[in-house]
Amino acid sequence: MHKINIAIDGPASSGKSTIAKIIAKDFGFVYTDTGAMYRGVTYLAIKHQVSFLDETALIELIENYPITFKQTDWGQAVLIQGEDVTQALRQPEVTNHVSEVSALPGVRDHLVKVQQKIAASGGVVMDGRDIGTTVLPQAEVKIFLVASASERAKRRYKENQDKGIKSNYNTLKKEIEQRDYTDSHRETSPLKQAKDASLVDTTGFSIDEVVATVESIVKEKM
Ligand code: C5P
Repeated sequence: MHKINIAIDGPASSGKSTIAKIIAKDFGFVYTDTGAMYRGVTYLAIKHQVSFLDETALIELIENYPITFKQTDWGQAVLIQGEDVTQALRQPEVTNHVSEVSALPGVRDHLVKVQQKIAASGGVVMDGRDIGTTVLPQAEVKIFLVASASERAKRRYKENQDKGIKSNYNTLKKEIEQRDYTDSHRETSPLKQAKDASLVDTTGFSIDEVVATVESIVKEKM
């Protein structure tokens, strides 16, 4: 049976990875978090004291320290040279600089090729910002997941609270809005709904309700 690919795009904290992981599990697909790849380069730049503007040096980091994924009971671990960096990639320092790094065309070019290779034989649920427009324009299912900025900040705030991380709601909301602005105004592959993507607004809906909506769209294409 031909395996379809599912592209899930949308702004920061719209629930993409939560939904994508559940869909992948339910249909037996492989989940790929492309945001983790951009976060990985940003993490490496901080670790190796490489400027966020030095495209050549950043590409060297990508080549020298490939990012890999390991499926786990709870979802997916991100590894760099065997080291589990899943939590490190969520640090505020990485989050607040990742949009600068991801705006560089050479960095995108490299990572898009890696992502296209992963999806080459189908059966992938990939989430990001440009999956439906640039990485997998032929994906059989394209979802553009959105939610209001206040709802997204609320979710992030609660997530932090549950993890025992102190945060400020207004700061989180500002950071989310800033990242969305940078991601949707860059020249190369900006965050944008693909013409043939289904728009799913998750504001006010539970995870189960969003999963049911997305799964009904997927089933139509299988
Ligand atoms: O999805 P996540 O919030 O982890 O993504 C982190 C950042 O990586 C985004 O804000 C964006 O700058 C970048 N990104 C991107 N293209 C993708 C995935 C993520 O530019 N396909």
